[in-house]
Amino acid sequence: MAYESKILGVGSFVPAKAYTNFDLEKMLDTSDEWIQQRTGIIKRHWVEGNVSNTDLAVEACKEAMEKAKVSHDDIDMIIFATLSPDHDFPGNACFLQEKLNIPAGIAALDIRQQCTGFVYGLSIADQFIKSGQYKNILLVGSEVHSKGLDRTPEGRNVSVLFGDGAGAAVIGRSDGESKVFGSLLHADGRFAKELWVAAPGTGNEEGERISTNMLDKKLHYPYMNGRQVFTHAVKRMAESLSTLMASHKMSIDDVDLFLFHQANIRINDKVAEILEIDSSKVFNTIADYGNTTAATIPIGMNDALKAGKLERGMVVGIAAFGAGFTWGSNIIVY
Ligand code: ACO
Repeated sequence: MAYESKILGVGSFVPAKAYTNFDLEKMLDTSDEWIQQRTGIIKRHWVEGNVSNTDLAVEACKEAMEKAKVSHDDIDMIIFATLSPDHDFPGNACFLQEKLNIPAGIAALDIRQQCTGFVYGLSIADQFIKSGQYKNILLVGSEVHSKGLDRTPEGRNVSVLFGDGAGAAVIGRSDGESKVFGSLLHADGRFAKELWVAAPGTGNEEGERISTNMLDKKLHYPYMNGRQVFTHAVKRMAESLSTLMASHKMSIDDVDLFLFHQANIRINDKVAEILEIDSSKVFNTIADYGNTTAATIPIGMNDALKAGKLERGMVVGIAAFGAGFTWGSNIIVY
């Protein structure tokens, strides 16, 4: 028997402490004007002390499960999208399972598509629900970027962009109008080193995973070719979404709300311009959180619900782009 899948409930969480652009001016040789003009970011939240990625995820998941009216006993799979896991291995899905007291024996999967993680995860969850193999899948995107950023003037081009946070959704069987309509997933590994962290890793020229030389060269911090990312993000997000809409014989007018990955307000404005989407239909959160990578879409979804901009029955177009390069889109009836 074939099933349709739908989002049963959504949750999100960001750490309490917010850093405004003015706070960053004191540590990074930057300015509120530079950051706002180029990115649209006003503040971002960063964890304190020993708070981990899965600590944030736990809070987002609890809210999502409560809203979905499912208990920890009902979850039969976890899909965890992150680029900033608690530890190199095992994956965050296992640590999260233990923290949420989800019974032994379920499937736990970590995926690594960076900013496109939630879009990939939603498609994977949809396939598992459609096949009938699983009934309630906990999909989470969570990041603690702050512990992996070069928060000195040398790292300012990247560090001002990223925030910590988590967003989660429970995906289950649809019993009516709400459903995941379709998804498109893409990648182009020729650009893998245009946005990446080299170390630790077994692919380094030195033949070591990590060394003091690598630390001295700051290879454990992200490198980004900002202009390449910008150009490709605009092109690919617009392309994926329009192809997906066309394959379902939908036009922009059929979509009630657009949730785009939150990397840069100018990227999203350009995508909207290319697709001729009225800006009132695009829900952005970047001003408040910065770029939380795999968490931007579910955080945006939850904020849109709380703001009354998203309701059951609305058609939502989702698109994201990230390191890899990876990109993709989903259309859902919420
Ligand atoms: N504060 C002040 N000045 C800065 C900062 C900063 N934080 N960072 C860089 N600058 C300076 C540079 O040193 C440079 O100075 P110079 O002209 O004296 O050499 C000047 O600003 C311009 O630097 P560029 O890197 O050329 O700035 P650009 O206009 O390209 O903007 C930005 C940088 C905002 C990152 C842009 O390339 C961009 O939007 N790229 C998209 C990438 C993105 O959004 N990535 C997010 C993560 S990836 C993802 O989620 C898809």
